[in-house]
Amino acid sequence: MAKNRKNPKSPKATGEVAESQIAVHWKEEELFRPSKRFAKHANLADPGVRKRFGEKNFPKCFEEYADFLTWYQKWNKVLDTNEPPFWKWFVGGKLNACFNCVDRHLEQYKNKAALIFVPEPEGEAPVAITYKELHSRVNEFAALLRDFAGLKKGDRVTIHMPMIPDLPVTMLACARLGVVHSVVFGGFSGEASGIRAADSGSRVLIYADSYYRGGKLIDHKVAAEIAVEAAKREGQTIDKVLVWRRYPGRSGTSAQMVQGRDYYIDDLLKDFRGKTVEPVWMDADDPLFLMYTSGTTGKPKGCQHRTGGYMAYVTGTSKYFQDIHPSDVYWCMADIGWITGHSYIVYGPLALAATSVIYEGVPNHPDPGRPWRIAERLDVNIFHTSPTAIRMLRKTGPEEPRKYNFNFKHMTTVGEPIEPEVWRWYYDTVGKREAVIVDTWWQTETGGFLCSTIPALDAMKPGSAGPGLPGIYPVVLDEEGKELPAGSARAGNICIRNPWPGIIQTIWGDRDKFVRQYYQKYCKNPKSKKWQDWPYFAGDGALLAKDGYFRILGRVDDVINVAGHRLGTKEIESACLTLEEIAEAAVVPVVDEIKGRVPEVYLSLRPGATTPPEQVADKVVKTIETMIGKIARPKAVRIVPDMPKTRSGKIMRRVLAAISNSMNIGDITTLANPDVVEQIRVSVQGTGAVAKREGPEDLKQFGMNE
Ligand code: WTA
Repeated sequence: MAKNRKNPKSPKATGEVAESQIAVHWKEEELFRPSKRFAKHANLADPGVRKRFGEKNFPKCFEEYADFLTWYQKWNKVLDTNEPPFWKWFVGGKLNACFNCVDRHLEQYKNKAALIFVPEPEGEAPVAITYKELHSRVNEFAALLRDFAGLKKGDRVTIHMPMIPDLPVTMLACARLGVVHSVVFGGFSGEASGIRAADSGSRVLIYADSYYRGGKLIDHKVAAEIAVEAAKREGQTIDKVLVWRRYPGRSGTSAQMVQGRDYYIDDLLKDFRGKTVEPVWMDADDPLFLMYTSGTTGKPKGCQHRTGGYMAYVTGTSKYFQDIHPSDVYWCMADIGWITGHSYIVYGPLALAATSVIYEGVPNHPDPGRPWRIAERLDVNIFHTSPTAIRMLRKTGPEEPRKYNFNFKHMTTVGEPIEPEVWRWYYDTVGKREAVIVDTWWQTETGGFLCSTIPALDAMKPGSAGPGLPGIYPVVLDEEGKELPAGSARAGNICIRNPWPGIIQTIWGDRDKFVRQYYQKYCKNPKSKKWQDWPYFAGDGALLAKDGYFRILGRVDDVINVAGHRLGTKEIESACLTLEEIAEAAVVPVVDEIKGRVPEVYLSLRPGATTPPEQVADKVVKTIETMIGKIARPKAVRIVPDMPKTRSGKIMRRVLAAISNSMNIGDITTLANPDVVEQIRVSVQGTGAVAKREGPEDLKQFGMNE
């Protein structure tokens, strides 16, 4: 199993172009030192931390993170490796995540803002919710979930909501009861929400009636109807749909409320005023939530996070790497519907008694000065966003940050590789050369950061995430499992040699897939109970520089990172194939100036299909939006006479990706139909086009292509 040359998922075997292969070639960058002022007040300024979290002290070192939490009962074993790779953390410990984020702060911070909600319409004033108010809201809603909806420990609930404070209230209320929440990104379609609800076995859906985005009040409740239908098709009955109203007492939806199934939460809450609910003490390894993410198959998978290990890891990393103090105003611009929002808007910051800002809308509404006005007004001092948002704000308002009086001490970039020149704009213009930047590499599955510089101690290198966090031991392995040494200038697969508390427990309902996806490729001995034999395969290509900094190149599997969000190419292809006109579909990643990567769709039509091509393209776009959501909208839909194929009939996505990205096409002599490649190239690039960018040929040095 270790030397898995025939692994069907490896890009080498399939001959498909992975994101990592179209990564641009950056040169070594100059280093930037964190300011002395920052270091003076930083939570983590002791260089001894690396030794403390060194392999000699593993796994005990992670008690340092667990000690940041309040436990109902202390653990008796830090790590149990009896059933690899199903690691158990803080065995015997009991705690409640909601208690740690809310109740325990009441004594010292009850009148301090826990959340500040910034509505998208600028005429609507921000709303501060104190820890005391948060406690009341969470308790009342928990009582409603328990007594009205009949939910109890271990039940699952699907939450399809936008960025309004009722979302964290809902999550915390679930956590208080031990109910496993599964938040679906608000921008996903009702169909996507219903499929996830069915997979998790949720019988209760929680929605918002409407929200503002891009200047429009979006009718969101309509998605609930579709979700209920989609869940039913998959065999799951939804018996309650609970709906938060953006303006209590006033409906923002055209959808009907189905009697006996749909309820406005503001109506119901009247019966729960002042009610409190005892937190349910959970075993450290009881699940806290599911987060569905795209993988290599058509079906999204439910990443199952545990209570104790996850809470310890996000709290520890928020403290040390986000440098959160209770006095900070922290604004992470991600959406709570993604893992970044779970770990670094809700659970980590609130566990540390921070003030966490929640912004409803898009960053450049009504103009690209908006984020900087929010930062100025609320005195935000820690700012966290994605390269896509930075690229967009830089492009649309490069001088805007200079017009506002805000001062960040710390900034984060997360979710995709950042180009060095974009990094430098962030550093110079947004950070005013004072703020320290961390480029944090991690994933839905990992719960929290894996690679980053230590903000007060390490030099920053534009475009590189940095070394492994203390207690995380990453390596770059080649396809045969051989370690690529630092400075070798060869890209390989980044893996983590050891378990850590934030890693998912399993994929909901599919333990085999969990093992197959993350551990099978590099497992040294499937019978071994030693963690050393089970490196975690992340699915990203990376380079390790001489100085120990990792540069992440992108996905090596059938996943595209669009604007920092994961989309499965297979998911998009499956959506296309639901149309009767389509015979074959292939989705490839294409470089985009703002979003990093976007999907492009190639289609061949069934013989005899009579629908005109433009109409097919329109139908495909609509179908993708309905089945997945607008974020999966392809940049182009290209209808081709035939797909380039190997002699055994496999579609060569590598060739299509090379054409879409104006890269060298490479060797196509072994294809079954090489002539079609030139036809497709001419139809996409025109007759005169030549390869502009380096292609798979140049990437041979990385050893990642065929
Ligand atoms: C990518 C988001 C480069 C990577 C937290 C990973 C990054 C995927 C970085 C996970 C970074 C995340 N630099 N690439 N700092 N952070 N990625 O699950 O390809 O939505 O595998 O989690 O995003 O996306 P996910």
